[in-house]
Amino acid sequence: MRQSSLVVVANRLPIDDSVAPDGACEWRRSPGGLVSALLPLLRHTPATWVGWAGGTGPAPALPDVDGVRMHTVPLTADDLRDHYEGFANATLWPLYHDSVEQPEYHRSWWEAYQRVNQRFAEATADVAEPGAVVWVQDYHLQLVPGLLRELRPDLRIGFFLHVPFPPPELFMQLPRRAELLRGMLGADLIGFQRSQAAHNFAQLVAKVLDVPATDRRIAVDDRVVRIGAFPVSIDTAEMAALAARPDVADRAARLRHDLGSPEQVILSVDRMDYTKGIEQRLKAYSELIAHGHVKVRDTVLVQVAVPSRERVGQYQILRERVEREVGRINGEFGRVGEPAIHYLTQPFDRAELAALYRVADVMAVTPLRDGMNLVAKEYVAARVDDTGALLLSEFAGAAAELPQAYLVNPHDLEGLKQGLLAALRAGPDDLGARMRAMRAHLHRHDIRAWARSYLSALDDSGSLLTRLGAA
Ligand code: ADP
Ligand code: F6P
Repeated sequence: MRQSSLVVVANRLPIDDSVAPDGACEWRRSPGGLVSALLPLLRHTPATWVGWAGGTGPAPALPDVDGVRMHTVPLTADDLRDHYEGFANATLWPLYHDSVEQPEYHRSWWEAYQRVNQRFAEATADVAEPGAVVWVQDYHLQLVPGLLRELRPDLRIGFFLHVPFPPPELFMQLPRRAELLRGMLGADLIGFQRSQAAHNFAQLVAKVLDVPATDRRIAVDDRVVRIGAFPVSIDTAEMAALAARPDVADRAARLRHDLGSPEQVILSVDRMDYTKGIEQRLKAYSELIAHGHVKVRDTVLVQVAVPSRERVGQYQILRERVEREVGRINGEFGRVGEPAIHYLTQPFDRAELAALYRVADVMAVTPLRDGMNLVAKEYVAARVDDTGALLLSEFAGAAAELPQAYLVNPHDLEGLKQGLLAALRAGPDDLGARMRAMRAHLHRHDIRAWARSYLSALDDSGSLLTRLGAA
């Protein structure tokens, strides 16, 4: 077994198996923020990525991706149902997102969560060199740091949570709350998106495990576990360079023409997820049309909503409701050749996404709760001419870093409508000043700055940073 000095462990690998139109199996980039953040960072680093390839059955042998070795962990159909769709995405996901949907608790899901976490820990122990740095990602794998430390006490273990970590009132609902906290404490460094999350974690450790904890350090057994906020980011320069490419500019012009050359384009790009506030946004837009504040001929909405976790009941219900509402709004307010909403559920390549960002006068990112939201950051990075307005939910982690956005509370329908109108009606000087400030922030706080701050805290020797080229 080939071993690496840097191992990233995430539920998903950066590529997913999918079926091409001709029925052949092909590999394509996996959806979601975690892959968008980590893939550009690791490119050409001699690292191993341990994860799941998206199907069930024996683990497929995968090619390296941009020089990064893929090590596949297989999931059975039961694991998929009870670990990924069950405990990860129908218990922890809703609970960690303010319980905007009701979390479900089933003992068999917990058993699957333990079993799959054990499998990931064993796979990681196999591919980590002596003394390697292992970086475990996200809520699917909260037990891995503790399990891995038992197997390989020589490793330096980091854990990063991409999603929010909830306040004690919510986390206390979890039947196996102590085990989950203990699992995370197997890490040397636990990173969160926001300092509030680190605070929530420290409070819970003190309350549930009776271990003294501050928002920075927790002494457990004979070790010190450090905790802190490390807001994740994007490859700002790469997105800006992509958006500035002449073919992307041409594609953006073509898209505007194909949309009927409206005066203004509103764009939203989400995974189809109930945390993203898609229904609330559609309602706000349709009321603005109904009350005459927005005219469909002048202003169109492009809603990209790529299907996600499609076998989980709450996601199926959401998709039906969104599609019914899009149909209703187009039926009521559209005309032949002039729909009010252009609704797209396809995955796009990065250049097409950049063209969409370039065409959007207003980018509406209005989740009910979101750990960070990288789409908001990608939009800002793509606005290389300092135009455009970002409408951003206060409940996205990104809001703490981008206060120049038009900030809204998506639960407040009137506030959402006012925010959208303000963004649509803003003048170029105001927009330019806001966008310049946000772009300057993202150039300083890009994905390399994130890795630098996290990995220098995890590995104080500095050797890892040098290898990543992030120093
Ligand atoms: P989450 O991690 O919850 O999915 P983020 O906004 O943080 O949300 O990250 C979503 C990522 O997925 C972004 O990098 C975005 O560009 C990408 N993405 C979203 N929709 C699509 C799509 N239709 N095609 C390709 N990439 C997409
Ligand atoms: O950001 C949260 C997250 O679960 C990431 O781990 C992942 O990148 C994204 O959402 C997509 O989710 P899934 O892996 O379930 O398709």
